[in-house]
Amino acid sequence: MTNLNPRAIRGRLLTFLRAPAGAGDAQSYRYIDDGIVLTKDGRIDAVGPAYELEIRIPSGTPVEHFPGALIAPGFIDPHIHYPQTQVIASYGAQLLEWLEKYTFVEEQKFADPAHAARNAEFFLDELARNGTTTAVAYCTAHPVSADALFAAAHERNVGMIAGNSVMNRNGPPGLLAPGRTAIADSRELIRRWHGTGRQRYAVTPRFAITSTEEQLEELGALFKEFPTVLMQTHLDENLDEIAAVQKLFPDDASYTAVYHRFGLLGPRSLMGHCIHLKDPEIALLRDTRSVAVFCPTSNLFIGSGLFDYDGLKAAGVRIALATDVGGGTSYSMLRTAAEAYKVMQLRGQNLPALAAFDLITRGNAAALGLEGEIGVIAPGAFADLVVLDARATPAMAHRMDVARNLEEELFVLMTMGDDRSVRQTYIAGVPAL
Ligand code: GUN
Ligand code: ZN
Repeated sequence: MTNLNPRAIRGRLLTFLRAPAGAGDAQSYRYIDDGIVLTKDGRIDAVGPAYELEIRIPSGTPVEHFPGALIAPGFIDPHIHYPQTQVIASYGAQLLEWLEKYTFVEEQKFADPAHAARNAEFFLDELARNGTTTAVAYCTAHPVSADALFAAAHERNVGMIAGNSVMNRNGPPGLLAPGRTAIADSRELIRRWHGTGRQRYAVTPRFAITSTEEQLEELGALFKEFPTVLMQTHLDENLDEIAAVQKLFPDDASYTAVYHRFGLLGPRSLMGHCIHLKDPEIALLRDTRSVAVFCPTSNLFIGSGLFDYDGLKAAGVRIALATDVGGGTSYSMLRTAAEAYKVMQLRGQNLPALAAFDLITRGNAAALGLEGEIGVIAPGAFADLVVLDARATPAMAHRMDVARNLEEELFVLMTMGDDRSVRQTYIAGVPAL
């Protein structure tokens, strides 16, 4: 376990108080031009202007000063596949072919605990390099893959939410577990990891296509049995996928209705993609308080379609923003925000920089039911922070020379920034880089 000694981190501080009403909503955030975050036991002990906090720093506390840099809550990625770090950038296919040709092939390698352990370390390194301090991750069907990720995250004190992808049909034999075994595996993982340090479990039906009705029923029962675990799956991503669901579940009114029938919707349910929803499906998501997870780099790369952000928001559906690596093409939540902006442009919508930064910090935390714990710089929250440099490249520095205010700086960061803009990442008050 890492050392949690107090630390003072100094720079320009930015944290969101609520979702911005639009561009220019200065009441939605707190910005301190020269601020200090004091950490203690991995959490934020105090935060304020340097002139106030300097005198409160206990003697001997190291002060890490980042003049000019912007210190924000660490980014949160609510949908990512840790076994797909060698699937990312696989050419030329849409969803169902992409799964068969590339994804299922790589995922079978995670039966080997050594392979899983190596990939878990790589994955956590890469998240930290990109300023992501919490992720909701799919593991493979193999419980050892989830054990490897949880063990590595626990060792680093990273707040990870993860689950083994449960499947019992329409996949290679190496990824299919019969219903009872998969449920027993999941229950054992919950017992071992849910609430161990910062680890949390998510019940993970891969998607409706890869589970029988019996398995979905058992997963729904498991989700109900543990009222603090989350649930993650995929929904309405691709038209061929939707046609296949219709064929497999002919009596259900929609794809969303299938999950609803098995008790898999609710405020702790993270529904990846949600691109091709019909009106009754939108109503189901709204009424159950389920979260629609927007995965723009993936939706563009796999050619799935354009998420209707404003439409779902107006309908009252909760929304989160995620990378979906390896369908997604970048680990960076900055790049992800940039692609979200472009997808919305194609729909005649806008994503103000304030809204994007709120979404990838406080907003995603709220989607996970973790508001106040992560995604904010406030006393009591975990000291998970990212130190950002909007002048990280010559092109960014050149553009920044004419930036007039914080919002423009944030827009440069999200449009041009990536891992190069991350100067440091703190996990529970400890530098990760
Ligand atoms: N649907 C079912 N499995 C997957 C996956 O691994 N990635 C994406 N993007 N969609 C899926
Ligand atoms: Zn996914």
